[in-house]
Amino acid sequence: MLGLEFAGDIAAVGPAVRQLRVGERVFGFTGFGVGANAEYKCLSERASLTTMPGNVAYTDAAATVDGFTTAWHFLHDLANVQNGQKVLVIGASGSIGTYAIQLAKYLGAVVHGVCSGRNAKLVEELGADRVFDYTVEEFTTSGERYDAIFDVVGGSSFTRCRSVLTPRGCYLPTTNLAVNTLLAAATALIRGPRVRTRMSVDKHAALAALRELLIEDRLQIIIDRTYPLSKIAEAHRHVDSGHKVGNVVITIEDD
Ligand SMILES: NC(=O)c1ccc[n+]([C@@H]2O[C@H](COP(=O)([O-])OP(=O)(O)OC[C@H]3O[C@@H](n4cnc5c(N)ncnc54)[C@H](OP(=O)(O)O)[C@@H]3O)[C@@H](O)[C@H]2O)c1
Repeated sequence: MLGLEFAGDIAAVGPAVRQLRVGERVFGFTGFGVGANAEYKCLSERASLTTMPGNVAYTDAAATVDGFTTAWHFLHDLANVQNGQKVLVIGASGSIGTYAIQLAKYLGAVVHGVCSGRNAKLVEELGADRVFDYTVEEFTTSGERYDAIFDVVGGSSFTRCRSVLTPRGCYLPTTNLAVNTLLAAATALIRGPRVRTRMSVDKHAALAALRELLIEDRLQIIIDRTYPLSKIAEAHRHVDSGHKVGNVVITIEDD
């Protein structure tokens, strides 16, 4: 999307601002007002932002926000993943996916990932206990059963995943939201696996968890490419290919 997440310095504050000071390093999420692909962005003190830990670079911080907080919302808030559960991440080599693998592991789950063979080693290094190469393997016939299937890239459907979910398992899609929202309402009324999907706009709790993990140096941040703002069209073309690895970052100062 057009500038949802950012990292930078506070250039000025209004007279009613109490928590933040000029010069502080902050990172966060603009919400659907977007506008972070710019040198300056005006946000409320109550927006989803927090101070950056001192051990983190701007490019790294900017590359964490949407991917990590989305993974947090789905795995922690919607699925309530617990120690010992089994989680499958479809699209494990993308932005949300690389954080989802690490977060599920951090929450104590056994984690499997789906990606292509060229990214399998990376996904294993991030903590996956098993990796399916979607170009040659089918996870639905592997004999594995999951407490949560987090489909980050729209590479599956609830119909296809239902038989490999545990009876109280959940299917967590980030895409095809109209269909999946209807399925979420329908499956909430009957016994068996459920679909859970909801947008998260208030990111305060997720950002607080992210900040702690960054301070503890517990997250690997995967940056595929960095582009100056003047090359943003090129950056979007790369993202739109659907084959980036981890994150793409836009920098301002290189312009
Ligand atoms: N609902 C929400 O709250 C929410 C929030 C944020 C984002 N989103 C949406 O989530 C989606 C994913 O975002 P993202 O940035 O994490 O994705 P991404 O980084 O673009 O994902 C690309 C990765 O997925 C892999 N991939 C492509 N097709 C695959 C398949 N069929 N099975 C498994 N892996 C596959 C690619 O690997 P190969 O190159 O090896 O194929 C690539 O590494 C976007 O559509 C975004 O709009 C939703």
